[in-house]
Amino acid sequence: MTHVLFVCLGNICRSPMAEAVFRHLVEKEGLADQISIDSCGIGGWHAGERPHNGTQKVLTQKGISHDTLRARQIKRQDFSDYDYIVCMDEENLSELNRMAPSGKKVYRLLDFAPDAMEQNVEDPYYTGRFEYVYELVQAGCQGLLDEIKAKKG
Ligand code: 4NP
Repeated sequence: MTHVLFVCLGNICRSPMAEAVFRHLVEKEGLADQISIDSCGIGGWHAGERPHNGTQKVLTQKGISHDTLRARQIKRQDFSDYDYIVCMDEENLSELNRMAPSGKKVYRLLDFAPDAMEQNVEDPYYTGRFEYVYELVQAGCQGLLDEIKAKKG
């Protein structure tokens, strides 16, 4: 079993989008029994809430389900429970590296999309560009799945 945790600042825009997109890809490939998926936020302000309307709207447009997503805050145990901790931008990365036990690797989603034009998934909570964020999230999730499949061999 491979355990994947997506992390952003609030867990209502980017990381729940990544969770839903990645689960959709994993289910399409018939790997749902081999990969566990969750998401969380560095902050707990939105704990218990559904994703932002912009995230819900873009996922619905793409035919990706999102009904069960609820925000939660990251906890220390996550660093040992998850193989891949995958955040969205360099701010998330430096915060998570401060929290992580030494030696624990934290990734950015676009590390897995080397052809993308960006290294950071911008925050649509501030930019409003949910469709563009979806494109980046899709590319990163596909690359991450390819990496996990290659590792499984
Ligand atoms: P996210 O976006 O990190 O992609 O979920 C944000 C959502 C909420 C806040 C910041 C970013 N906030 O400050 O409440």
